[in-house]
Amino acid sequence: MKALLLAGGRGTRMRPLTHTCNKHSIPIANKPLIQYPFEMLVKAGINDIAIIVNETREEIEKIFGNGSKWDVNVTYIFQDHPGGLAHALALSEEFMAGSKFIMVLGDNILERGLEKYVEKFDNSSLNGLILGVKVPIEKHERFGMATIKKKTNDLIRYVEKPGVVDKSDLYDPKNSYAVPGFYFFDKNIFQCFKGKDKIKPSARGELEIASPYNWLIEHGYKVKLEIVKGWYKDPGNPEDTLVTNQIIMDSFIEFDVKGEVDAESKLSGKVKIEKGATITNSILRGPLVIGKDCVIKDSYIGPYTAIYDNSKIINCEIENSIIWGNVYMHDVKTRIDSSLIGWDAEIREKEEMPRASKLFIGDNSLVEL
Ligand code: TTP
Repeated sequence: MKALLLAGGRGTRMRPLTHTCNKHSIPIANKPLIQYPFEMLVKAGINDIAIIVNETREEIEKIFGNGSKWDVNVTYIFQDHPGGLAHALALSEEFMAGSKFIMVLGDNILERGLEKYVEKFDNSSLNGLILGVKVPIEKHERFGMATIKKKTNDLIRYVEKPGVVDKSDLYDPKNSYAVPGFYFFDKNIFQCFKGKDKIKPSARGELEIASPYNWLIEHGYKVKLEIVKGWYKDPGNPEDTLVTNQIIMDSFIEFDVKGEVDAESKLSGKVKIEKGATITNSILRGPLVIGKDCVIKDSYIGPYTAIYDNSKIINCEIENSIIWGNVYMHDVKTRIDSSLIGWDAEIREKEEMPRASKLFIGDNSLVEL
């Protein structure tokens, strides 16, 4: 099987952070967000991966190169405008060359990985497979929902925001699941972009992912749904990004100190300190990650904080925050909590109320507290 990983789109909900940095390269526990779904694909045994990119191609290419670091082949496909998930899918026909494949959104993470589903689809005669997550009925109208036949799990209709966007009679709330960003297809799917009855853009002008699935069903092809076990995250906004950072740290961070810690500093919990980092007279309470060549001095770094490479934190207190690389924070009296701080930002003390600080700021910002 092959894979298509999406890294196009607009990233509007993550502005201003995404004005200068692609949403997919935001570091979660010090690893670019898109690396999580990419590594899920690699772990599931897929070694031919195409990545959909837009003007941020350079940034994504810097992370994956030609894939040799993971022992896989990576190809880049340029999407000249964010025409929708199915538009991105249509661009991959030549790359797929008749193979079965999985399309994955570059900001989606599954706790238990993809192995089980990849194996199931690869060994089946299905034309499509979709994953499903149970959500309360009153929240269905916010999601793309898959209505299935009880017992067989056959897809009956993929309903985009039921009652709001798609008013189909086929929507059955009791047998519907929210659809995360992992979509399986065989070569037949590319027919939905051709001919008289090809799929059409929605009211917002995008080719939606519901349309190819509904086209398959309407043309007699077989699609089933698999219910997801374990957690699933797609951090589309700053709050979700912090929650994802917490969940990833709880699940994957282990105590591992490669940097230098002086005798005055106190470490507890799962603390990961990369090579070249120096910790002086500070309190570090995990889970947390400190990147390469960071300097932490006279500071408190609390649970769920990820500080990326080359950052300098002097005489500050931080908790539950993501600090991008090359950030300089010094002499801030109030504790920084639940914040996202972009590349090259500098934060310093200013004698002014209020004391509590919650920051969602872009790259190269200067904040005086
Ligand atoms: P979305 O989260 O639906 O859209 P977005 O990334 O543009 O963000 P926002 O809603 O904040 O503006 O996109 C889901 C994934 O699909 C994400 O990884 C980006 C990718 N994508 C493409 O590659 N091409 C597209 O045309 C679209 C719409 C999304």
